[in-house]
Amino acid sequence: MLNHGGGIQQAALTFGLPPKKWLDLSTGINPIGWSIPHIPADKWLRLPEDEDGLLQSASAYYGSENILPVAGSQAAIQVLSRLTEKFRVAVLSPTYSEHAHSWGFIGKKHKKPFYSTPPSHQVEQVTLRELEKKIELYDAVVVVNPNNPTGKIISKEKLFEWRKRQAVADKAFGGERWLIVDEAFMDSTPQLSMIGETGKPGLIVLRSLGKFFGLAGARVGFVFGWPELLDSMRQLLGPWQISGPSRHVAKNCLNDTAWHVETRSQLEEKQKQLHNMLSKYNLTPIGGTTLFKWVKVSRSKELFNKFAQHGILVRRFSDPGGIRFGLPGDKDQWQRLESTLKSISK
Ligand SMILES: Cc1ncc(COP(=O)(O)O)c(C=O)c1O
Repeated sequence: MLNHGGGIQQAALTFGLPPKKWLDLSTGINPIGWSIPHIPADKWLRLPEDEDGLLQSASAYYGSENILPVAGSQAAIQVLSRLTEKFRVAVLSPTYSEHAHSWGFIGKKHKKPFYSTPPSHQVEQVTLRELEKKIELYDAVVVVNPNNPTGKIISKEKLFEWRKRQAVADKAFGGERWLIVDEAFMDSTPQLSMIGETGKPGLIVLRSLGKFFGLAGARVGFVFGWPELLDSMRQLLGPWQISGPSRHVAKNCLNDTAWHVETRSQLEEKQKQLHNMLSKYNLTPIGGTTLFKWVKVSRSKELFNKFAQHGILVRRFSDPGGIRFGLPGDKDQWQRLESTLKSISK
């Protein structure tokens, strides 16, 4: 399994500080997520039903009916590689490591998995420049937009251009090239989303309720694509992907338009506050989204340990070296981050 943020129990064991004492800034999850309402007992006691209104709420929020709800966008990442064979895949990198991993990429630290699938794909982690040069060579291209951890945004115009190049190559050389856009961090900038373009073969978009809505534990995400792809994925995943309580929470948070508007404006303010605070202590972010900031540092392990000694868990990356800071939640957490930054910068 790959490493991710949010491992408070593990950090507690490593550094000998109980979980409750940590400030977890290691994820890009909104610390003030949507408030969980009372969940009716039948949501726990009955099997989930597709006709419970979740699809309508999600279609309205995302602006598309080409949709499949899944147990977190991770579930879709896991199975995309099983829907096809012998693909040459480019993952625009550095990025969320699960994409390359699920297409069969084996990192230096990882052993080959014992299972035999996905058996036949060839995966490359590529830079933007490399991708631009030879996008036609790949059967599938994976882009996280905005990117995690760098926050880099690929414009819609650029994505349209790539889709066009793929379509031309399909005609010339045969095959059906895919562009997979992971929009887990797109909710603050819906105008940049490619969801409106889905429906025809080739374009797949992934969304998550685990970031902007803060509902990481609910395990709800959505896939947008064309009918045959969504149908194959549904069959591969099987029935009752999402639990009844999670479907109930998902439907209601997607309907809460006033919360969406208020949260977008609050996150905008908070991301500025985080940027300014980090910059004040010589950790000026070079990128990020409304939910996290990305700071390039060569000795990221040293800095990670310093924060951990103060009970603050951040997310460390080594290639390229950097630290990702999530947003503190309340006033005390902001103060704790500032006093730690002050002490570390000395
Ligand atoms: C870019 C990106 N995509 C997808 C996921 C998976 O999120 P979830 O399965 O909670 O929807 C993550 C989780 O960190 C992520 O960072």
